[in-house]
Amino acid sequence: MLNIAVLVSGGGTNLQAIIDQVEDGRLPDVKICAVISNNAGAFALERAKKHGIPACCISPKNYETRAAFNKALVGALDEISPDLIVLAGFLVVIPPEMVEKYEGRIINIHPSLIPSFCGTGYYGLKVHEAALKRGVKISGATVHIVDSGTDTGPILIQKAVEVKEDDTPEVLQRRIMEEAEWKILPQAIGMFAEAKKKGEL
Ligand code: GRF
Repeated sequence: MLNIAVLVSGGGTNLQAIIDQVEDGRLPDVKICAVISNNAGAFALERAKKHGIPACCISPKNYETRAAFNKALVGALDEISPDLIVLAGFLVVIPPEMVEKYEGRIINIHPSLIPSFCGTGYYGLKVHEAALKRGVKISGATVHIVDSGTDTGPILIQKAVEVKEDDTPEVLQRRIMEEAEWKILPQAIGMFAEAKKKGEL
């Protein structure tokens, strides 16, 4: 069984895609052990609770220093001891000690075809605004391993999505979620589950 912790900040539609595939048997060897959000109001936390998944908020706002937050987050993850950490729209800088400790076992979903429209400042709708401003005809999503940079780790899966003439950032965002993110993130998790089954993780 691949035990995963999912880190979220917002609506949780990527989390929901993982939950759905675990529950409908498309991800038979995966268990979502915990959901952690930096945002107490994240609807993703409601989604977790509705499905009986332990969920909590660990927010930098609740700690005197960033170092104290980092310690609390890593401590919580060490308690869970996941095989894989999934960043599903997690908008907090990942503690360096976490990247080191879970090297190769943290993945992130980014709503563009990296190396386009990624890195510092490219998150949420900003990614799609930049893609539309540049006039690309194809965008998409990327799942990559998290390293010490921002959206710079090894790419695992990408899926292209057509950009349409009259797209707004919101319409493009939704199409990329539906046609790419909600497919390739569970697919990537499945790759790790297979690796664990083979004793390769
Ligand atoms: C997604 O667009 C994802 O690509 C980005 O943040 C958004 C999270 O959306 N990293 P949700 O919380 O999964 O609905």
